[in-house]
Amino acid sequence: MEQYAIKGGNPLVGDVEIGGAKNAALPILAASAMTDETVYIENMPDVRDTKVLLDAMQSIGVMIKSTGRHSVILNAGNINSLTVDSEGIKKIRASYYLLGALLGKYKHAEVALPGGCDIGCRAIDQHIKGFRALGADVSIRHGLIRATAERLTGSHIYMDVVSVGATINVMMAAAMAEGMTIIENAAKEPHVVDLANFLNSMGANIKGAGTDVIRIKGVSRLHGTEYTIIPDQIEAGTFMFAAAVTKGDVTVKNVIPKHLESITAKLREIGCEVEEADDCIRVVASKPLRHTQVKTLPYPGFPTDMQPQITVALAMSRGTSIVTESIFENRFKYVDELTRMGANIKVEGNTAIIDGVEKYTGASISAPDLRAGAALVIAALAAEGDTIMDAIKYIERGYEDFHVKLQGLGAQIEVVQTEKDFQKFKLKTG
Ligand code: UD1
Repeated sequence: MEQYAIKGGNPLVGDVEIGGAKNAALPILAASAMTDETVYIENMPDVRDTKVLLDAMQSIGVMIKSTGRHSVILNAGNINSLTVDSEGIKKIRASYYLLGALLGKYKHAEVALPGGCDIGCRAIDQHIKGFRALGADVSIRHGLIRATAERLTGSHIYMDVVSVGATINVMMAAAMAEGMTIIENAAKEPHVVDLANFLNSMGANIKGAGTDVIRIKGVSRLHGTEYTIIPDQIEAGTFMFAAAVTKGDVTVKNVIPKHLESITAKLREIGCEVEEADDCIRVVASKPLRHTQVKTLPYPGFPTDMQPQITVALAMSRGTSIVTESIFENRFKYVDELTRMGANIKVEGNTAIIDGVEKYTGASISAPDLRAGAALVIAALAAEGDTIMDAIKYIERGYEDFHVKLQGLGAQIEVVQTEKDFQKFKLKTG
């Protein structure tokens, strides 16, 4: 089993290139199945979740050709099944995007119920409500969600909660429904906008993405396109916090600074210097970090996917901080692991009360999920001594070459397989 061996104590210094956004790539790949023509996608992140989705798409007859590590060509002209039930697909949350995409184009889809990170109950009632509003029959049987319709017709849909997934799924189905769909209380995340731009580049008629009202005038067919995925806001934010926690000086390159505003604001609040340029951001942490309060919110609020990373920073800051998680109900599970590294955090319901400590110490820990795993790596990089981390497969779901990019910034981190490898790493890093 692969583990990360980490020796902490080095400030991270240098430049890091940010890849394409995983959470934009997943719906864009699924939406590529909505045309019979060829789709060319650039800036695809090479991470496990996108691979799983591509495998599932291939299993129903989508022709997929990779033309480089970050570019892929898809053609869904010969789909031979509308049932997606491959083994891997249950493990990723975004499997359900094939539901919206196939329902939109073929008016029928059956997809295995989604998995993803275990961060609390992840309902899909708003997806189902949206599909039904468009005229589909939706049922769940034998672990599959089935959506089917004679015809889809535009509708006025008010989302009861702001949901990225439901907004995206309904937007895809509505893009090929008859007439106008209005989604109110829509999610405004950059990846929602990226998918709308992608669909529009295929001939869809979607307006208002990025605001809370999206208007979609259905079209009867979509055509091929060439598209470049936006940079990953969360990957960038993770490296920005890695700079802060290790007292480093890191420039994240190939980013859209506007997408990172809530992250930049919090870093400045806790005492980092943040310089923005056109497509890069430099974070310098030369002073001790200060405490603050933060609440996760839908975009443009502070992202829930950055909550573990900011908690790791605040737990090493001066004073008492409060972190409130308002999106997912069970997203503090990593706190037990961080406590093993010396953090002083009390969790009450959806709030973490954090008494900052001077430093972390290396420990034997496990990545509980994707983002918390990355946050614990940051803690280990700042810690005194060695850390060995299990379950790094979670991190590989969403970060491309995470340890390699960290090594490029001077981090002492390696993938090891055995206790002997870990001992060798310890000898080497002194
Ligand atoms: C997406 C992201 C995930 C991020 C999250 C919030 C992907 C693949 N994943 O997840 O990384 O953490 O957005 O930014 O893009 N909810 C309902 N009913 C629904 C749908 C959602 O009650 O039908 C609730 C959820 O339980 C949660 C909240 O709404 O409490 C937000 O969930 P949602 O925005 O849908 O998250 P995902 O799309 O699953």
